[in-house]
Amino acid sequence: MKYIILIVIVIVLFVIYALIENFFLLMVRREKLGNGIRIVHLSDLHRKRFGRNNIRLCEKVKELSPDLIIFSGDLITRYEQDLSCAEMTLKMLCKIAPVYMIYGNHEQSFSETMRPELEAMFERSKVILLRNESSEININGRHLKIYGLLENYGVYKKNGGYRDLDVIKTADLEKLLGKCPEGEVLLMAHNPFFAEAYAEWGAKYTFSGHVHGGAVRIFGIAMLSPERKFFPKNSKGVYTYGNMKLLVSAGLGKLRLFDPPEIVVYEI
Ligand SMILES: [Fe+2]
Repeated sequence: MKYIILIVIVIVLFVIYALIENFFLLMVRREKLGNGIRIVHLSDLHRKRFGRNNIRLCEKVKELSPDLIIFSGDLITRYEQDLSCAEMTLKMLCKIAPVYMIYGNHEQSFSETMRPELEAMFERSKVILLRNESSEININGRHLKIYGLLENYGVYKKNGGYRDLDVIKTADLEKLLGKCPEGEVLLMAHNPFFAEAYAEWGAKYTFSGHVHGGAVRIFGIAMLSPERKFFPKNSKGVYTYGNMKLLVSAGLGKLRLFDPPEIVVYEI
């Protein structure tokens, strides 16, 4: 009887923790990689809400006083019907600092009927949406070149499944983005699994998301990727590939366990 009571208590505590993690927690992870520019990195919000219209999320970003904000894809979920919260969120973020963003696999596979509304929403919000394009910005005397990758959807899903997925090679990046220029190049690439190619292409920093930290993290080990693969690599944190730092956010949305939603703030 004692053991049964103990097991019930453990299960109840576990459920309470999971609810808190999924409905209330919002962590800030700080990474010091240099000096002079502060970047807030957000990713994979999907349908998650942090307060009404994400006011809690935006207030926390504002407190961090970023020079720029990077949103590395999956702002929405592919079957979302109402984009008003996404729009309000982006508009609030744009008032804090310039917001650069890319499409994730969910924006790529968004319904064709809703697509014009999605594009109009990005247009109205004043974010700098880069789809195999680049933009330049001067911050505190430094000149940054920011590229946004819109990769082949076949790296996420093929014929409705996850077998024989495409890969991204350096030559693909050169085809989509052109040759990497000299100078400080920041790349936004939703998918973190092709870091070797991003490094060889020449990015100094690459901002990714997609893996949601592995959905469940046991002792810091990612358990599952969105492609239904166990123990995915590059799930959360700072990784070094040659001269490049791969910066992976565990993201904000989707169900998760021991893997709280996070805002990442980098000094570079
Ligand atoms: Fe995602």
